[in-house]
Amino acid sequence: MQAAARAHANIALIKYWGKRDSALNLPATGSISVTLEALHSETRVRFDPNLVTDAIMLESGGDAERVSRFLDLVRALAGMEMRADVRSRNNFPTGAGLASSASGFAALALAASRAAGIEASPSELSALARQGSGSAARSLYGGFVEMQRGRDDRTGADAHAVPLLAAHEWPLAVVVAIIDTGTKSVGSTDGMTRTAATSPFHDAWVAGADADLAAMRTAIRDRNLERVGELTEHSCLKMHATMLGAQPGLIYWQPATLAAWQTLADLRADGLAAYGTIDAGPQVKALCRIADADAVTAALAQVPGVRDVRISHLGPDASLIAD
Ligand code: DP6
Repeated sequence: MQAAARAHANIALIKYWGKRDSALNLPATGSISVTLEALHSETRVRFDPNLVTDAIMLESGGDAERVSRFLDLVRALAGMEMRADVRSRNNFPTGAGLASSASGFAALALAASRAAGIEASPSELSALARQGSGSAARSLYGGFVEMQRGRDDRTGADAHAVPLLAAHEWPLAVVVAIIDTGTKSVGSTDGMTRTAATSPFHDAWVAGADADLAAMRTAIRDRNLERVGELTEHSCLKMHATMLGAQPGLIYWQPATLAAWQTLADLRADGLAAYGTIDAGPQVKALCRIADADAVTAALAQVPGVRDVRISHLGPDASLIAD
């Protein structure tokens, strides 16, 4: 009745921003991400017949209520009522646009389903993690990962991630420029709802997704970093344009965000291939070759307002660990 798991954060290259169903947390579009070796969550779950409520300790912060609702899904699947003791920690800041819900719910899905004795395939685990947080479905896998939108609106069973390339098949680095680690003002879930309800650009964003995903799949298959980078920056800017069109507009950037973005453009002008992406927070993440990661780090560290810079290689699948 006890298990522990580690899952790594991921960064979307083709973004997920919008749901077609919030009860099952079904995405409006697919998405493509890379999993990061350096940023992970570790979660231990123990179901205990003596507990009357869930005892949830999120050492790095987070929403215990949301974890408890997720455990209800696991209990329903396992056909049991037992409450759980959960302990989780991240090795990076929570809730600051560094994808903590992704690694957190992926680790929780794996640990809780194992602790509850549920036999689940990787696709079933990914679909389960999606119900905790859409991006978490991708963190079950390492390397390059595609989240499939799926067609089954009744069960959502086909809205799960699939691996595209393992980390070792195309080793790259992601350099994360940390600008502000405070919790973001509007979380992804609320931000998506507001965007879909009020942004005149939302429909165009959804309509463009299939073409962006197809182009990215080809670029990844061809190991074409320049093309992957162009598509990554395009998807990021298009998502932020959609957010800016919401009412009230969602502005996740800070001045240093734009300065870091410009620094990457300057590096490219000097012949160094580094491409940025930004999620629902001010941090800038740059995709580059491993051999260039130190140069990218040095350039980003000089940007005023950048507090810290971390390099990550691409990471592995989520896995069970000793508890
Ligand atoms: C900007 O997965 O956090 O990082 O499903 O509501 O939990 P919920 O949203 P979440 O959204 C991630 C948004 C993003 C883009 C991405 O990771 O694809």
